[in-house]
Amino acid sequence: MEYMKAVRIHQYGGPEVLVFEDAPRPVPGFAEVLIRVHAAGINPIDWKIRAGHLKDVRPYAFPLILGWDLSGVVEAIGPGTGKFKKGDEVYSRPDSARNGAYAEYITVKESEVAVKPRSIDHVQAGAIPLACLTAWQAIFDTGGLSAGQRILIHGAAGGVGSFAVQLAKWKGAYVIGTASARNQSYLRELGVDEPIDYEKDRFEDLVRSVEVVFDTIGGDTQKRSWKVLQKGGILVSIAAPPSAEEAAKSGVRQAFILMTPNSSELTEIAKLVDIGKLKPVVETVLPLTDARRAHELSQTGHTRGKIVLRVLS
Ligand SMILES: NC(=O)c1ccc[n+]([C@@H]2O[C@H](COP(=O)([O-])OP(=O)(O)OC[C@H]3O[C@@H](n4cnc5c(N)ncnc54)[C@H](OP(=O)(O)O)[C@@H]3O)[C@@H](O)[C@H]2O)c1
Repeated sequence: MEYMKAVRIHQYGGPEVLVFEDAPRPVPGFAEVLIRVHAAGINPIDWKIRAGHLKDVRPYAFPLILGWDLSGVVEAIGPGTGKFKKGDEVYSRPDSARNGAYAEYITVKESEVAVKPRSIDHVQAGAIPLACLTAWQAIFDTGGLSAGQRILIHGAAGGVGSFAVQLAKWKGAYVIGTASARNQSYLRELGVDEPIDYEKDRFEDLVRSVEVVFDTIGGDTQKRSWKVLQKGGILVSIAAPPSAEEAAKSGVRQAFILMTPNSSELTEIAKLVDIGKLKPVVETVLPLTDARRAHELSQTGHTRGKIVLRVLS
């Protein structure tokens, strides 16, 4: 058996359960490709799984490699594949039911892999798949956002929010976004038309008649969002299922979505990056050996853009 370096957990717990160690190098099975990981994006789901928050709904066997965002190079292909060849530069949001990308190698279903944007490096590309697919599926596939519409994006400075702002602007929408005081000028740089400081102002006093609310925060923020929607509008959440009763009372629609891997949307996204319409914002790059620090930062809930682990230096 061949070995590789990986960060694994052998139990649920705090960042200290992340262990940098040798792990078996995977072998691609039917319809799978083996990817040499160059960079692995960090997402809140990583530390939520590490802490055991999802253990009742999604049981995992240990040891487990976390991390479901990657950019890298195809190293080998399994039987039943044909889309990629050794040496192709790719990115992916792999199946989160399997081992993830905090490792030198990962096997991924070919259907979850796309050619990475050519104009950016692996660290930048590794920041994209999970968060950008989530934003795309929330505001376009579910929210139906179109040119000229108005959207309120909660958590506009975060990993998902930063992509949602840029995608909404590319579509030709008017974008209102919430963030703390430190991120107000960042929101403007991203393209937000009306930034709102949630620490100073109550957004529901300032916003009226939007077609779409995109909620990446949940809780009280979600509850206070009904009144800013116009009749027939939609609240799309990725944080918590909104109340169907409240939606009906306000004459609006609601949806909770779970992102699904989608390589054709990743291909569309790569084109947008390469024509300069979309740019990942990577706030922090850390080596794979610093996965614990990456989790501590993500857990603050105040990441600007993305945190990425550099796997191959
Ligand atoms: N359902 C799905 O498929 C799916 C997919 C991806 C993510 N998610 C979930 O969606 C959430 C967001 O993910 P993410 O990757 O964007 O997280 P993230 O990068 O950690 O987001 C952090 C951002 O949230 C902002 N924020 C914190 N409190 C806020 C508030 N009260 N109002 C407005 N903004 C606030 C922070 O801005 P300030 O620093 O300025 O406060 C920060 O920029 C997470 O809970 C994640 O697990 C779900």
